[in-house]
Parts: sequence; structure tokens; C-alpha cells
Amino acid sequence: MEGGPGPFDHRTTGIPAMTDEECRLFSGFVSDRFGLNVFEAQRDRVRFRLKERLEARAMTSFLEYYRFLVLSPRASEELPFLVEALTNNETYFLRERYQLDWYFGEVLPSQVRERPPGEPVRVLSAGCSSGEEAYSLAIVHHENQFRCLGRPLEIHAIDLNPSRIRQAEVAEYEGHSFRAASPEAKERYFAATATNGRLRLKSWLKAPVRFRVLNLMELSSAFPEGYFDAVFCRNVLIYFSESTMQRACALFHRVLSRGSPLFLGHSESLLGRTRLFRPQRATDFIYYTKAVA
Ligand SMILES: C[S@@+](CC[C@H](N)C(=O)[O-])C[C@H]1O[C@@H](n2cnc3c(N)ncnc32)[C@H](O)[C@@H]1O
Repeated sequence: MEGGPGPFDHRTTGIPAMTDEECRLFSGFVSDRFGLNVFEAQRDRVRFRLKERLEARAMTSFLEYYRFLVLSPRASEELPFLVEALTNNETYFLRERYQLDWYFGEVLPSQVRERPPGEPVRVLSAGCSSGEEAYSLAIVHHENQFRCLGRPLEIHAIDLNPSRIRQAEVAEYEGHSFRAASPEAKERYFAATATNGRLRLKSWLKAPVRFRVLNLMELSSAFPEGYFDAVFCRNVLIYFSESTMQRACALFHRVLSRGSPLFLGHSESLLGRTRLFRPQRATDFIYYTKAVA
């Protein structure tokens, strides 16, 4: 590097340098395992985030850490820490609510009309973080119940990160999770806890949600073909490379039922990138439906 040490230079931070080769090895490992594409442009951020892991394992180079991940029989113990260090878990209640309103208000009513009575509607929240998205689905479903003809709802919510799934199961939240929630929604769906001003989701809203630690790259071994009526995978694929995004699309295509919708985050797009999904225009956003193969 020219002009002296930068902010993450190992001479000033004590964080080992990451060579091009180490970067390539790590990048391949994380992309294969988790779909994540975090390295090329963000080498310094990754070095910084993994510093504690190298220290915890008393290792002095990223090559040593990489070899441990690939070769050690105890590598699986390290993976949750690696995931915690590499993922962005940013989320909040009723994020991009217009998509949830569209699904429960416009799409689901026509899906349920064609179903045998009593059959549940199954929705997947893929990359659910600490649960705000899955519980928002339960809230918006509740508010649209009359349109859903009383169909029971199952929300399956998965994330790679075990610590976020534990938080989701506890269902206690603080300030930043409520940035898009009205005071009325907070009042109606949450109760104060005795601890630290947190709010606890009311238990009847927890009932339809099942959380599970799962890599979405393993979706097809966890759920049967055609199982879901909708997939919400928002603000997740943005961290994937083109090839792992394509693998994820193939998995969503497999687990969705015929013609069912896939909702992505507002900065994510499949336009011109896959034939497995067809873009559909809603009021002022695009979502996708499973194309016939
Ligand atoms: C930015 S958060 C988005 C949360 C929520 N979907 C939303 O839009 O508010 C991304 C989440 O995706 C999860 N994630 C990333 N890669 C994943 C994978 N391969 N399988 C399952 N979850 C993954 C991360 O752990 C993180 O919690």
C-alpha cells in the first residue's frame, strides 16, 4: 500500500494481513458453504471482523484459520462464530410492509380459493435474522384474516446464524426493531417486560411461527418440493455472488408451489438474471412468481 499504513494495516492494528491467496481460499469457502460473497471488495472489513476469532483460537494467520475450518474435526464448533462475524443481521418490524400487505391482501386470497378447505398456507422467511420479518408476516396475516377465509397460517423462518434464531425464539425487542412500527401496533402486539424496557411479542402471534437454524443452500433437504405458498427472502441475496444467487433461485423454485410468489428486498432484482421466475408488477414494486419449468 502506498503512502503509509491505512486504517487496517497490520502494523497499526495488530490484525494479520490477508494475502491474495488467503482471500481467494476464504472467499471460496464462505461462498460454497453459505452463499455469501463478502470478500473481494471487503477484505479489510473481514480481517477486522475475524480478528477476535483468530485471537480466540490463538492463531496468527488467516491461512491457519482457513486450514482449521477445512481440516479440523472440530471445525463445526467454529462455524457459528464465523457466521456471526460475516453476516449483516439488520432487520426491523414491518420493513417494506407494502409487500406483506400485497401478499396477504391481493395474492393469498386467490391462492386459498383454489385449495381444499382446512389446508394451511405456508410461508417461508428465508434469512429471518432475529425474527422481526417472520412476526411481521404473522401480524399482517392477522390484519387480513377476513381475506384469507380463515385459513391457518404456518410461517417457517430460517437463518444461518444460531444466535439470531435464539433471539427470535425469545421474541423480546428494543427500540431499533420498532423504527417502522406505529405506536398503535406496538400497543396492540407487544407487552412491556420487566427487563430493560424491552417489549415482548404477544404469545398468540408467536404460535404460527417455527424457527430453525438452516442454511438456505440446504433448503431442498429440509422441505418437500412445492411446499411453500410464498417465499420472503429480503435483503439476503444482496450478499450473494451471481452463481450462489442462481443456486438460491433454483432452490426457491423447487420449494415453491405452482405460480407462487417470491419477494426480495427493494434493492435486489432478478430482472434478466433467471428464467425460473417471472417478474410481476404490484402497485409500485416488482415481485416474482415461479415460472413453469
Ligand atoms: C440483512 S438480514 C435480513 C433480515 C430480514 N430478511 C429483513 O429483510 O429484514 C440478512 C440475514 O440473512 C441471513 N443469511 C445470510 N446468508 C444466509 C444463508 N445462506 N442461509 C440462511 N440465512 C442466511 C443472515 O444471517 C442475516 O440474518
